[in-house]
Amino acid sequence: MIPELSNPSVCMRDPQRVQEILQSMVKAGSNTLQVISDFDMTLTRFAYNGKRCPTCHNILDNSQLITDDCKEQLKELLNTYYPIEIDSTRSVEEKLPLMVEWWTKAHELLVQQKIKKDMLALAVRESEAMLREGYQLFFDHLYEHSIPLLIFSAGIGDILEEVIRQANVFHPNVKVFSNYMDFDETGLLKAFKGELIHIYNKREGALLNTGHFQELRTRPNVLLMGDSLGDLTMADGVQDMENILKIGYLNDKVAERKQSYLDSYDIVLVEDETLEVPNAVLLYLT
Ligand code: TMP
Ligand code: MG
Repeated sequence: MIPELSNPSVCMRDPQRVQEILQSMVKAGSNTLQVISDFDMTLTRFAYNGKRCPTCHNILDNSQLITDDCKEQLKELLNTYYPIEIDSTRSVEEKLPLMVEWWTKAHELLVQQKIKKDMLALAVRESEAMLREGYQLFFDHLYEHSIPLLIFSAGIGDILEEVIRQANVFHPNVKVFSNYMDFDETGLLKAFKGELIHIYNKREGALLNTGHFQELRTRPNVLLMGDSLGDLTMADGVQDMENILKIGYLNDKVAERKQSYLDSYDIVLVEDETLEVPNAVLLYLT
């Protein structure tokens, strides 16, 4: 039905079920559709020419805005906690407090760094952050068809917005739930605002934003995109959901994690650095 679903990167546990969901969604029409996507390593690339690409946090970690000493400490945190994030032998219950620990420690370090708001754009410009190939079509197509895109990220909202602004795709149909920085009157970072979003509390984050989902209640069909099993709960705030199609990027530790991704995502994209499949699905649905 969609030729791209035969791409070598595509794995599906139940292709028939995928076809059924797609058919129901086409029938309902694109004016009933909303897209909910994770940001880091879902809309952005995991690697380019064999080198890892940065997350929102990594953009700051690698920038001139923080001291070498702080860089060292953040790198240590990454080396400690990232392997836990992707460890398929540990349960979410076991990982959750450790992820809270990671985010809390990283944000504490960043707040000590006297980061200036007006330097963020430069840090992003000088970074190696890259949206996945096909991002322009993805963002522009959603905008042209007035389909709301919620970017739901445990990264840093200010950085994420700057990445999509610099790529000229921060259209009015895009809404962001993320961790936002709080600056003092002189423009120095003093804290992070609101409830912390980490990779395993997106459900709670969604439920705190019932107003947003209330506004979108005429759009009960959801295309969800993520790269972590924690991203699966991003749509938990959607009211009276009718259909959901879940596309998951499996970027790392493929052999160990493939089965769990196949069990939870309808379409799994293995080491696929492009938005080709989500774009093909969107074109089919609109
Ligand atoms: P996401 O929800 O947009 O994918 O963002 C979460 C990612 O951020 C997750 O994969 C871990 C990553 N991360 C860092 O790279 N450095 C950090 O210091 C922290 C706290 C998270
Ligand atoms: Mg992610």
